[in-house]
Amino acid sequence: MRLLITNIKELYQVEGNDENRLVVAGRNMAVVPSIANAWLLTESGLIKDFGPMENVPADGFDETMDVTGRLVLPTWCDSHTHLVFAAPRDGEFVDRIRGLSYEAIAAKGGGILNSAAKLNEMSENELYHQSLVRLHKVIAQGTGAIEIKSGYGLCEEGELKMLRVIRKLKENSTIDIKATLLAAHAYPLEYKENKEGYIKLILDKILPRVADEGLADYMDVFCEEGFFSVADTERLLEAGWKYGLKPKIHANQLHYSGGVQVGVKNKALSVDHLECVGDAEIASLIGSNTMPVLLPGAAFFLGIQYQPARKIIDAGLPVCLATDYNPGSCPSGNVPLLLSIACTQLKMTPEEVVNAVTINGAAAMELQDTLGSIKRGKKANLIITRPMSTLAYIPYDYGNNPVDKVLINGVVV
Ligand code: NIG
Ligand code: FE
Repeated sequence: MRLLITNIKELYQVEGNDENRLVVAGRNMAVVPSIANAWLLTESGLIKDFGPMENVPADGFDETMDVTGRLVLPTWCDSHTHLVFAAPRDGEFVDRIRGLSYEAIAAKGGGILNSAAKLNEMSENELYHQSLVRLHKVIAQGTGAIEIKSGYGLCEEGELKMLRVIRKLKENSTIDIKATLLAAHAYPLEYKENKEGYIKLILDKILPRVADEGLADYMDVFCEEGFFSVADTERLLEAGWKYGLKPKIHANQLHYSGGVQVGVKNKALSVDHLECVGDAEIASLIGSNTMPVLLPGAAFFLGIQYQPARKIIDAGLPVCLATDYNPGSCPSGNVPLLLSIACTQLKMTPEEVVNAVTINGAAAMELQDTLGSIKRGKKANLIITRPMSTLAYIPYDYGNNPVDKVLINGVVV
């Protein structure tokens, strides 16, 4: 099938054949290259060609779509989610309003342990169907590639169940999905007094089985005071590498915990959260290939300090944004809303937030060769917006859905 999209008000994030922007960093984040009044041709699910309307092809297509007044962008790449979960946690939301902190709720057996109890009671099939509904919802909001973590099993069978659900989502979805093993998300209750026992269970049982069944692409650890220490994180990441799982870790959400440094030292693909980032963390990221991934949706929902995005960008580093979609700290996988929060609270510009969830989001999932920009030969995963004037209107129109149509592999979903 060859689809010709015409009269695009502005086609964003375009790249020439010879360009290869694998990551956008520092000052370059302020620019999203575009073509006004453009056309785009897809063929067999890929971007075949594009250009200004003066040169619109007269033939060589099967169907046309006139999108007068609308913008076209590559779909969002959401590189950090916990989309597979069994139940909402609105009770804890109310507890927090009344003054309990996220850590206090976790310490009394709520939080991640609450999610684990519910997940371990639910059948794999039911978990799959609930998760599929969430996946379809975020695709409709423009997400065209996603990473999903385990971490609510916290036992051998529970972690494997989650990863099998993610595999089934991969098999039955047209979007790219990356799976991450996050067995080291919290210590289960039965290991409260035997933390070493749980780490051994991950190292000796869970990790080998996950690797053997090819269930995960990446290895995550919640490196944080009260959760997994820097030393434990390092042991777990080294073990993950032995099984071919690259690190992608939760770091510096609640404290200056050394998480960023241990991630960089262990060649993490990304270090995620980063509410607590100062000069030492920035210095360790400079010159590394580790992507700083900011999750301001979680900071918003927990009412904690925001990530210092400006400081990171001004240091010449890239910034990636992701939703952190999960039942505790961010029950929303809505990328347009995330972009509004990043603009208003992190003081990122509309161009910076779009770079952060397209090219940089793709890089944080190693999908930069096939997704993240409008380039000939990349997948035709496209967002067609509602009629609007500029890119800035997307984060400006907060709480509303800017997306009219989503194309995945050239097909409207
Ligand atoms: O990224 N911080 C750790 N993990 C998740 C939250 C998990 C939960 O509360 O269920 C996060 O915020
Ligand atoms: Fe997370």
